[in-house]
Amino acid sequence: MIQRVPTGISGFDALIEDGFPQESLILFAGSPGAGKTTIAAQFMFEGALKFGEKGLYVCFAETRDSLLRNLQRFGWDFEKLEREGMIGILDLSTTKEPGIQSNLNLILDTISELSAKRLVIDSFTAFSMALSEPTDVRFLIHLLYRFLQRVGCTTIMISDTPWGSQTIGSGVEEFIADGIILMQTRFDENGNLRRTLHILKMRSTNHSKRTHEYDITEDGIRILT
Ligand SMILES: Nc1ncnc2c1ncn2[C@@H]1O[C@H](COP(=O)(O)OP(=O)(O)OP(=O)(O)O)[C@@H](O)[C@H]1O
Ligand SMILES: [Mg+2]
Repeated sequence: MIQRVPTGISGFDALIEDGFPQESLILFAGSPGAGKTTIAAQFMFEGALKFGEKGLYVCFAETRDSLLRNLQRFGWDFEKLEREGMIGILDLSTTKEPGIQSNLNLILDTISELSAKRLVIDSFTAFSMALSEPTDVRFLIHLLYRFLQRVGCTTIMISDTPWGSQTIGSGVEEFIADGIILMQTRFDENGNLRRTLHILKMRSTNHSKRTHEYDITEDGIRILT
């Protein structure tokens, strides 16, 4: 019997048999502004509030202050949850430390300190670009996967996909991830921004195969259709 980790996001859990498989690694890929940070933070916020699960948010792309400010707009007070020990934020956006291993150790230590059950890496793209050595993404992703199996967290890993890109990631993490969700934006014939989401893969899950429209509202992500 597979344990499920619900996101608590309105309309989303129903698409994936009520939640991500426990301790799975889910890749959220999408274009700039698609809502990757929002959905990942919502997964963490709802986890803490609705399910009493602690979470660690690791940011490489945005600073802690910028993240907190943006999430405050949705009424998600991560600072308060941080004070209550429900959520940790690890800002590695300006880290000078070149080693992957030391970053991973820092993440691991923080997960154990918190007893976190949910982890967000925002983003894997920024993480791998921060490497000072020749970017060996393949090495990093394998290291990360082995590492995640040890920590026992359900993980959302964000992948930044440029507009018009024909690929989702580097060609490695897509195969390693247990699930892939693609978030896309486009302008419709009336010139309005439309957002669509596809579940490309979710191991051991009879997931939706449809195109789903979603919106970002003042309460966060909402699946519309
Ligand atoms: N309060 C709000 N109400 C409605 N929509 C909002 C609100 N705040 C942000 N948005 C929408 O969310 C988008 C940003 O979402 P988010 O930061 O989650 O995207 P992202 O995929 O993480 O982007 P990036 O690739 O730049 O990190 C904005 O471009 C805007 O369209
Ligand atoms: Mg983001």
